[in-house]
Formats: sequence, C-alpha cells, structure tokens
Amino acid sequence: MFDFFKRRRRIPQLPYTTEVHCHILPGIDDGARDVAHAIQLVYQMKEWGVEKIVATPHVTEASFENTPQTIEAAQAQLRQEIDLGKLGIELCHSAEYRMDDNFLGILERNEIIPMPGNHILIENSFLQPFWNIKGLVFDLQMRGLSPILAHPERYAYYYEEKNIYTELHEQGCEFQVNILSLAGYYNKRAKEIAEWLISKHMVDYLGSDLHNNHHAQSISKYLSGKEFIRHMRNIHLKNNAL
Ligand SMILES: [Fe+2]
Repeated sequence: MFDFFKRRRRIPQLPYTTEVHCHILPGIDDGARDVAHAIQLVYQMKEWGVEKIVATPHVTEASFENTPQTIEAAQAQLRQEIDLGKLGIELCHSAEYRMDDNFLGILERNEIIPMPGNHILIENSFLQPFWNIKGLVFDLQMRGLSPILAHPERYAYYYEEKNIYTELHEQGCEFQVNILSLAGYYNKRAKEIAEWLISKHMVDYLGSDLHNNHHAQSISKYLSGKEFIRHMRNIHLKNNAL
C-alpha cells in the first residue's frame, strides 16, 4: 500500500502560479472552442499549480479582431463556470496584441485592456517583424504601459540578428518565453533561442500559450523531465508579481 503511494508519480508543476499567456476564453480565437473545453484547460492549469490566470486571446487584424466587448463577454462566461465549480482560480483578462494596423487603431481609440500592473502582451507576425517595433515599444511606454514581447524565440527572422533581443530588452521591453518552446514542441531552433535567452538572463516570464489538449500533453511531459530541471536552474521569473 505505502509502496504504491511512494511509486505514484508526482503531478508535474509549473515554475509559477500566475499564468500570463493562454488562449482559454471560449470561442473567440483558435484556443478553447467552447466553455466545456475552456474548463478542461483551466482544470489542467490548476493541476499544474496555477492559482491566477491572465487570459490573453488573440487580437489580430483580419483573423481575430476581438474587442473589449467580445473578450469581456467570453471572460464572464468562463468566470461563471469557474465560480460554479468552486475552482478557486483567479481569472483576469487582457489580450495578446499583434502589432499591426488594427492594434494602432486600438491604441488611438484608447481601447487597450492592460494586464495587471499595466503590462501589455505584444507579438510580431511570424512572417515579418513589425516595421518599427522599437518606436512602438517607446510609444507604449510613453502611454504608461509596460510591454512584454510574447515568445521572442519564435521569430525566425531575428535568429541571425540577435542584437535586436538585447536592444529591445535594454529598452525595457520584457520577454515572455513559451514553455512549449523549451519543450521542443515547435522546432529545434526555437528551443535553442529560448535556451540562449535564458543563458543571457533575458527571460522575464514563462507562459504556457495553452490553446488545446495537445499543448497540455507536451507541457506535462516536459515538466516531468530532466531538461525542465536543467532549464530552471538559471531563470528568475516575474510571473507571480503580476
Ligand atoms: Fe498566444
């Protein structure tokens, strides 16, 4: 009997209790398709030790042009289910803002939904960088927002010009690396760049970027392995300050 408990594998735990990047709001992007799916993902995060979730649905021109109204409505739906299930999870909402013309319009109209602490999660397209990212970071800072670049390790066009990482970080733009990148889920290069960012002490936040159950399985597997322990030796996360 006791042997059985000793042998039982411990449930893998994330290295933070505040999740800063995930797509769990039901039906408004390419993450959770409905409330039932969203609750599954929330349960998964709770099992990994998460206590507070900042939901960050895509706000992307042409594909996911979410507004404060669509995001708040989806958040309210999920909030209700979390409360009904007495899950004891704090749910906040913001967005993952793609730097594009749609975003510039949102900024002009003052329609940003900031994360706690006036942080804002921004991302580039995977095909090309925003034409003036340093200028935009400065503009956000002038507006009292504190930009966090989502998954910098996933922008292949930066790999041969690594200076951009140092320059942006020195400018005060913080970096959020995906756990999935460290797990090798996307590709070898993204993993190498994530490891390089850790070695240069430029990783401020880790995030799951959780969209679905495939992601969850990869993350659980990674959290149970030796590479996770090795990666976490040299990292100081700010997640729980949010
Ligand atoms: Fe994302």
